[in-house]
Amino acid sequence: MNILQALFNTSIGKKIVMAVTGLILFGFVVGHLVGNLQIFSPPEKINAYAHFLQNLGPALWVIRGFLLVTVLLHVWMAVALVMENKAARGPKDYANQQTLKASYASRTMRYSGLIVLAFIVYHIMHFTTKNTHGEAFYPTTMLHGEVVADVHTMMVLGFQQPLVAAFYLIAIALLSWHLSHGLASMFQSLGLRTRAWSSCLNKFAVVFSVLYFLGNAAIVGAAFTGAVKIQNEEVKVAMGEICSVNCEVCETVQAKH
Ligand code: HEM
Repeated sequence: MNILQALFNTSIGKKIVMAVTGLILFGFVVGHLVGNLQIFSPPEKINAYAHFLQNLGPALWVIRGFLLVTVLLHVWMAVALVMENKAARGPKDYANQQTLKASYASRTMRYSGLIVLAFIVYHIMHFTTKNTHGEAFYPTTMLHGEVVADVHTMMVLGFQQPLVAAFYLIAIALLSWHLSHGLASMFQSLGLRTRAWSSCLNKFAVVFSVLYFLGNAAIVGAAFTGAVKIQNEEVKVAMGEICSVNCEVCETVQAKH
C-alpha cells in the first residue's frame, strides 16, 4: 500500500487527512480574523490590506484553489468516516449508539459543519463576488491616489442589517463550537494528545474557541451598534448624514443620488 492509499483507504489515514486539513483551515480562520480586526483601526488600514490581497494576481487564485481543495478534502473525509462508522455498527447497533456522548458530539460536528459551509457560500457572495446587495453597499474610496474598494464601509453597512448580523453571529458561534471539538480531536488524530497533555489541550481548544467567537462577534457588534462608524464622506452624504467636508461634496453626491 503506498502512502496515498494508506491515507485515503484506512480509517486512521482519513483521520490524519481530516486533522491536517483542519489545521490548515484553522490557520486560515485565525489569519482572517486578525486581518478583519483591522476594522478597529482607521479605514485606510483594512482597505489597504484588502487591496493588497485583491492584487495578488495569480497567487490569490493559487491560495483560493488550495483552500477549496482543503475544504473539499475535509468534508469528503468527514462523510467517508461517518459512513464507515455507520456500516461498521450496523442498523441496530447504530440506534443504540445514538445516546452515547461521543456520538452526540460527532452528530453536532456534522450539522455545525454543514451550516458553516452554507455560511461560507453566502459570505463569499456577500463580500467577495458582491451579489447579495445593491451597488450602494459596495462603495469605493481613494487610497494613495488610486480608487479602491472601501471594504471598511462595506463591512459596516453589511452588519448594520439585523438579519445579516444575526446570521453571521449564529454561523460564527457554530464555527467556534465546531472548532472546540475539532481542535481536540485533531490533537488526538495527530498523536499529540498524550494522557499528561489531554486536559491542557482540551482547555486550550475551549479557550481558543471562545476567544475566536468574541473576536468575530466584536467586529459584527461594533458595526451593528455604531461603535465603528462609516467614514466615507460620499456614503455619509448619500445616507442623509451631514457632510463634514464641504458643500461641494454634498452637491456632487446629492446630484448623483
Ligand atoms: C465577522 C466575521 C467575518 C468578517 C467580518 C469577514 C470579512 C470578510 C471580507 C471583508 C472579505 C472580502 C475581502 C476582500 O474584499 O478581499 C472576506 C472574504 C472571505 N471570507 Fe470572511 N469574514 C468573516 C468570517 C469568515 C469566516 C468565519 C470564514 C470561513 C469559515 C470566512 C471565509 C472567507 C473566505 C473564504 C473569503 C473569500 C476570500 C477570497 O477568495 O477572496 N470569513 N471575509
